[in-house]
Amino acid sequence: MHIRTFVYGATALLIAAAGSASAQTVTYTDAQAQRGNDAFKSSCAKCHGTNATGGEGPPLVGEKFKTDFGGKAAKALYEKMSNAMPYDEPGTLPKETYVLIMAHILKLNGVPASPMPLVIDPPGTIPK
Ligand code: HEC
Repeated sequence: MHIRTFVYGATALLIAAAGSASAQTVTYTDAQAQRGNDAFKSSCAKCHGTNATGGEGPPLVGEKFKTDFGGKAAKALYEKMSNAMPYDEPGTLPKETYVLIMAHILKLNGVPASPMPLVIDPPGTIPK
């Protein structure tokens, strides 16, 4: 009886931990966002604008960004960028560069910086 209670209790804890991990907000460091700013200017700004407010490509800030990515898995944004961008040369940047650029985009959208870096397979969600 005792052992059963323990096993159920441990399982419930594990489920609770997994749930909070997927609900957590995506993280990036300020240093990543700063380096991402430079990479964005060289590879993305010609279509999305220097401040990512749009041009030939859609804005990556504000309402459009919130509608398309707010409340969704951070991984969805990473995959969109790394599979489909730059639009004229999809997937040509090093994975680490996509990570840095994504940190920059998160910063532009008001997601707070953290001590925890953004990674290639990012956990967490983008806040609404
Ligand atoms: C040659 C022009 C061009 C370049 C360069 C470019 N993009 Fe795009 N981007 C587009 C166009 C056009 C779309 C809309 C079509 C689509 O979503 O595939 C788009 C869409 C996007 C989206 C989806 C926006 C949304 O709300 O759905 C993201 C994110 C994005 N680009 C990021 C980037 C990043 C990061 C870079 C630099 C690595 C980049 N783009 C470079 C033209 C470009």
